[in-house]
Amino acid sequence: MSDADFSLTYPPVHPGTAVSRIRFYNTAPDLAAVFSTPAAQPAGRRIFVTDTTIAALPAVRPFISLFADGSWNGSILVTLPAGEAAKTLDNVMQIIKHALDHNFNRNDIFTAIGGGVISDMTAFASAIFKRGARCEIVPTTLLAMVDAAVGGKTGCDYDSYKNMIGAFYPAEHLYFFPRFIETLPESEYRSGLAEAVKTALLYSKELYTFIKDNSEKIKRRDPKLLADVITRCVKAKAAVVEQDFTEKNIRMYLNLGHTFGHALESTAGLGKITHGDAVAWGIGRAAAVSLKLGLCTRAYYDNVTALLAGFGWETNPCPDILKAGSSGSLLAAMKKDKKNSGSAVKLILQKDIGQTVIRETDDATIMQVLS
Ligand SMILES: NC(=O)c1ccc[n+]([C@@H]2O[C@H](COP(=O)([O-])OP(=O)(O)OC[C@H]3O[C@@H](n4cnc5c(N)ncnc54)[C@H](O)[C@@H]3O)[C@@H](O)[C@H]2O)c1
Repeated sequence: MSDADFSLTYPPVHPGTAVSRIRFYNTAPDLAAVFSTPAAQPAGRRIFVTDTTIAALPAVRPFISLFADGSWNGSILVTLPAGEAAKTLDNVMQIIKHALDHNFNRNDIFTAIGGGVISDMTAFASAIFKRGARCEIVPTTLLAMVDAAVGGKTGCDYDSYKNMIGAFYPAEHLYFFPRFIETLPESEYRSGLAEAVKTALLYSKELYTFIKDNSEKIKRRDPKLLADVITRCVKAKAAVVEQDFTEKNIRMYLNLGHTFGHALESTAGLGKITHGDAVAWGIGRAAAVSLKLGLCTRAYYDNVTALLAGFGWETNPCPDILKAGSSGSLLAAMKKDKKNSGSAVKLILQKDIGQTVIRETDDATIMQVLS
């Protein structure tokens, strides 16, 4: 017997959910120019969403000043507080309230100008506004460029739980200005690098070696090298998302380091450690599990932890930000991860660079790499 008497197939919810168009600009960010051009003005007004830190950047301030009278070309601006602590359902509702108060409809566009916090929330607001409006993203952090803005995962945190509310809803346009990276604080820059290293470990030994061999130039933010790293990461992630949009199989690999990393973020208190720093520590812990289970060689473990340490990431079982003896709290947080089906913790592990597996891992093994 089949599992259904009949089934329905649907077209994409709306044109933007079928294709994301990505444009790279090697100039200084000029948002007024981008959003004044006719090509960027399909029917529909825009609700731009950013945060207070980005709004104050010299590269963005001229654009923000266009809204001094409340609107610009029929579009409006919402400026939210900056940082992970602002990634709340309340702030998603703030975006929606502004759109409602200005009579926005489904054909209008929610445009995020920001890092992963702003892009995740804005895209989520667009997904649920009147059952789906249009969405665009201008990623302004390295992390958003190599990861958060690409692939349609949207959402916000709830209580101390990361990304527990959300939807799959890709942006129809992405505007990349790698030069936004020039003003990123060092901690945020390193946070984005962690996701780039993760992408390299998963999909490209060549990119991994490139990052390792050029670590000093990358630390100095050499613009040419960075543009290259960003482009390669976007292409690698796009290829995975195209094959597995709703994360049923290979897209799950992108969570390498994340089960440990999310647990660290929750245990330390949201916003106390950057997402990327937490993920980098998690990549090291995942390598330690691989070594314990005999999945990888000692050479792989040493190679990965040396690269992490070289960029300044923690490779200790218990990160300095937590008090000693926090392994039990970390394990408890890992068990709440939304990717776990039963009681065992599902981990993304590697046998080698480019050879990734998913393993349900027992508590005892996890406790061993946390203490
Ligand atoms: N949707 C996804 O697939 C996905 C993937 C990875 C991470 N994420 C999410 O992304 C979030 C982290 O993103 P993030 O690291 O970009 O953090 P963020 O958005 O909080 O930005 C970090 C800080 O940098 C500031 N900033 C942004 N751009 C700047 C610039 N050009 N110059 C100076 N300061 C700037 C911001 O105001 C903020 O204070 C997390 O919430 C994480 O869950 C989502």
